[in-house]
Amino acid sequence: MANPAIELKGITKAFGHIIANENVDLTVFRGEILAILGENGSGKTTLMNMISGIYYPDEGHIFIDGKEVNISSPKDALDLKIGMIHQHFKLVDVFNATENIVLGLDEGKYDIKASAKKIQETCDRYGFEIDVNKKIYEMSVSEKQTVEIVKALYKGADILILDEPTAVLTPQETQKLFNVLRKMREDGKSIIIITHKLHEVLEISDRVSVLRKGKYIGTINTAEANESILTEMMVGEKISLDIERSEPKDTTDRLIVKGVDLYNKEGVQVLKDISFTAKSGEILGIAGISGSGQRELLESIAGLQKISGGEILYNNPKTNETENLKDKTPMQIRNLGVRLSFVPEDRLGMGLVGNMDIIDNMMLRSYRKGKSVFVERKQPKALAEKIIEDLQVVTPDAKTPVRRLSGGNVQKVLVGREIAASPTVLMAAYPVRGLDINSSYMIYNLLNEQKENGVAVIFVGEDLDVLIELCDRILVVCGGRVTGIVNGREAKKEELGLLMTKGNAKGGKSDE
Ligand SMILES: Nc1ncnc2c1ncn2[C@@H]1O[C@H](COP(=O)(O)OP(=O)(O)OP(=O)(O)O)[C@@H](O)[C@H]1O
Ligand SMILES: [Mg+2]
Repeated sequence: MANPAIELKGITKAFGHIIANENVDLTVFRGEILAILGENGSGKTTLMNMISGIYYPDEGHIFIDGKEVNISSPKDALDLKIGMIHQHFKLVDVFNATENIVLGLDEGKYDIKASAKKIQETCDRYGFEIDVNKKIYEMSVSEKQTVEIVKALYKGADILILDEPTAVLTPQETQKLFNVLRKMREDGKSIIIITHKLHEVLEISDRVSVLRKGKYIGTINTAEANESILTEMMVGEKISLDIERSEPKDTTDRLIVKGVDLYNKEGVQVLKDISFTAKSGEILGIAGISGSGQRELLESIAGLQKISGGEILYNNPKTNETENLKDKTPMQIRNLGVRLSFVPEDRLGMGLVGNMDIIDNMMLRSYRKGKSVFVERKQPKALAEKIIEDLQVVTPDAKTPVRRLSGGNVQKVLVGREIAASPTVLMAAYPVRGLDINSSYMIYNLLNEQKENGVAVIFVGEDLDVLIELCDRILVVCGGRVTGIVNGREAKKEELGLLMTKGNAKGGKSDE
């Protein structure tokens, strides 16, 4: 292999008493794809942030092409042709794609039209499909991710760092991205990719470097690696990866969705005659290519979207009344006594407020319950501390702003808060996105526990193996329609795959 593009030597970085990186060495060559692997909070993002000028190391040296460099701002990194695509998007919502991409660039007087054209060329060259004039707030998570990637390419990155880029991409989009990365590798560029998905590491990388608890464990050639070798390097011991699925007990119909239709802002019908029942004491999985209506469906149930047709009925176990949630706001739904918890796909957008600490984020959910004009902090504090303990959230304390937590730990806080609200319906969209293997299994076990407590769990997942292992029934959606409802114990991956791509599916099958 050619020369090292970047060498890190003895990098140490602490935040208060948390040592995020301790004496880390790392080498990335020109023309290679290096994967970085490690559990949540092991220091991957921190290390990359020091290469991209966001943090400055406490100790250690960084060399680019053999020369020591001083990277003390993102601008320094950009001058060294280092581009980073962050785990949490750094885009301005009210701007469109083009404006976001040229933001902060010295492009003279901001000739937006000319920039848009140049950006379109970059997109065409690499095969990215985005509307450069679309506003960020109108974009799906994966479109936002694409803008970030195009932005780095547009700025001429030679060394491209991608922090969990595939977490928000469909398998097809991931393949497209991987093709781009391979093209860049052929051009002699260096790519560092962080992902928790071992099969992706094995597929795309040339070498893998592993971090554990802030320390550098080692690097191996991908050709000599397999999943169990990598897991053991990451965790430090062999671990078993099993989901224990119990038989549903005492199930009753909790949430009945009947013929739901929904149109988006552009007038496009995104939910078509959707019908299904979520039962207490079972996990209903939702499978589908991302963007098939999963998000809109959950948002409709939560009262965040106004459906145009159909009904959403809730059987209240306390009063035995049936409530119709159609046309109700989230607040009205709550006031009806519906105990609905929702872990949305976009956790820092809709779920949590990054600038607020963990305690305040607990209060976001509970403050309206209080009768007093004074905000009650004691209970949220105890809750925050319980979640930190139970879910092993890596954080200095409960007063740490959520945005300072590692990506996986942010996710644990959100899931913990939603479960703590003792819901009767728990909807979780991709709850293990960005979680390491251990934490993912922790979440699956939590969902199982909720099911055993009689909660109707709705789990939107992307990993078909997990859906099949975890769920009692699996609802498959395609193009906003239900294409099938399959028994989880009998489901086959191929069958789900077919249902997921059943283009002209006839709508609205009921599961009864
Ligand atoms: N700005 C900050 N202030 C305080 N602590 C921080 C800050 N940034 C990171 N940390 C802490 O440093 C440790 C390493 O975090 P980092 O984000 O690098 O982990 P990671 O390996 O990227 O994890 P994940 O897979 O969950 O994204 C964590 O304990 C995190 O809470
Ligand atoms: Mg990270």
